Amino acid sequence: MADKILEFVHTSTGKQIAAALGLPVPPQLKRAKAGYAEKALSNANALVGASAFGPVATAVVKALNAMGASIKVSADLAGLDGIKQAAVKAKLEVSISQADNGVPENVYVLDVTSAANVADLRLLYDFFNPRLRKVPSNSRIVVIGRPRGDCKDALAETAQSSLPGFIRSLAKESGKNGTTANLIQVKTGAENGIEGALRFFLSPHSAFVTGQVLPVVGAPKGVKVAAFSEKPLTGKLAVVTGAARGIGAAIAEVLAREGATVIGVDRPADESTLGATMSSLGGIACPLDITDADAGKKLAAVAASKGGKIDIIVHNAGITRDKMMRNMAAHLWDMVLDVNLGAIVRCNEQLLAGDAFGANARIVCISSIGGIAGNAGQTNYAATKSAVIGYVDAIAKQLEGKGISINAIAPGFIETQMTAAIPVVTREVARRLSSLSQGGLPVDIAEAVTFMASPLAVGVNGATLRVCGQNLVGA
Ligand SMILES: NC(=O)c1ccc[n+]([C@@H]2O[C@H](COP(=O)([O-])OP(=O)(O)OC[C@H]3O[C@@H](n4cnc5c(N)ncnc54)[C@H](O)[C@@H]3O)[C@@H](O)[C@H]2O)c1
Repeated sequence: MADKILEFVHTSTGKQIAAALGLPVPPQLKRAKAGYAEKALSNANALVGASAFGPVATAVVKALNAMGASIKVSADLAGLDGIKQAAVKAKLEVSISQADNGVPENVYVLDVTSAANVADLRLLYDFFNPRLRKVPSNSRIVVIGRPRGDCKDALAETAQSSLPGFIRSLAKESGKNGTTANLIQVKTGAENGIEGALRFFLSPHSAFVTGQVLPVVGAPKGVKVAAFSEKPLTGKLAVVTGAARGIGAAIAEVLAREGATVIGVDRPADESTLGATMSSLGGIACPLDITDADAGKKLAAVAASKGGKIDIIVHNAGITRDKMMRNMAAHLWDMVLDVNLGAIVRCNEQLLAGDAFGANARIVCISSIGGIAGNAGQTNYAATKSAVIGYVDAIAKQLEGKGISINAIAPGFIETQMTAAIPVVTREVARRLSSLSQGGLPVDIAEAVTFMASPLAVGVNGATLRVCGQNLVGA
């Protein structure tokens, strides 16, 4: 469903009316027009800093260099020594721009992993304060810190714990022009996962992701971190449930864009829509109700009939049956619990028991901010979406030893048939109550799912990433 206000305020008449009435103008987000490109930052002006020289500063310099960025360093900038040393030590030909060259930066990366006390946090101020007055629209800010439990003492943990609050606030300040700000929390030893996370957060593939914290914990057992390649899903077989329409169809499309062969699953009643969606992207239609007791076994058989194992499965199919708890019929509770949760658990169990996953398989589940914030009338739905977050966290530890990773994406307000059914006033409030003042599009979820399903997210496991424009509900 189209956001008419967003469209209108970007017409010439709309701009004049909005200015005259002092109305807020939601920014036009720059989304990816094509797949991941190796030199994605070749036109970017990147300001980079580090609290000290170390493995993270080195990983950042290498990653930005691999992305073709021109790294900006100058004597008046805080945090430059760690970066300079990293460039020298890594023997990298980093093109280093001179002091303020009049071109405002549109990429900011600050490594504060070595911030170990309150005084060290001054770097956040010194690095960002002089630079954030003229940030071009759709710029990207990433701060890199350490997760809880990773620091050498309580004071360092305390300093690192400041970062989620800092980044969430910066995201709220920056969102008005479509700029995003996110935090990567990299575990000691998992630094080789930084490049993939940066490729996502610094690109238009993450246009609707802001104010979020992504833990990078390290690759599962036996999984090597490969150098970036374009179309990273080439040769992969991907299953997407609920693929006939909405978010699922977009996920199938973006996975296919990155090279995957997609098996799209949807209810037999939606077979013709599913067939049309799959044929548009060269995928395979699999009409199947995911609550079928043998759904996992059937999916394994379909994959085997195509000569392969399942490299990626996206558990996207989901339903709402909203009623206040006091009025909810038992069958509505059972139905939502089974489609949104029971079917996922059963299916994964059957695929694992049948050895149906390929090496380094990646599982992505769809949660919802409803599962984080809760909604009146959605006790059934929110219970399932909250459980998905716990499920990926708990099961990741079991799957890690098998070389398989599992993560979740929690969409906020996304323009689909599901949200078109929301009453108009509630819908308008839900759209605007985010740092980007608009709802997301199905492609925004598809981009985040594709990141999680790809080698770019090799170090990410057991995580839930919200794709919600920093929706203030449940923030
Ligand atoms: N749209 C949003 O704003 C939003 C927000 C948060 C989370 N989500 C989640 O994203 C996912 C996709 O949502 P959407 O908005 O695209 O919904 P949608 O209703 O447009 O599409 C859901 C798809 O799942 C399929 N499906 C439902 N039950 C099935 C079953 N038993 N077996 C096979 N297929 C089945 C449907 O036929 C449909 O094609 C859901 O899990 C939803 O809970 C959506």
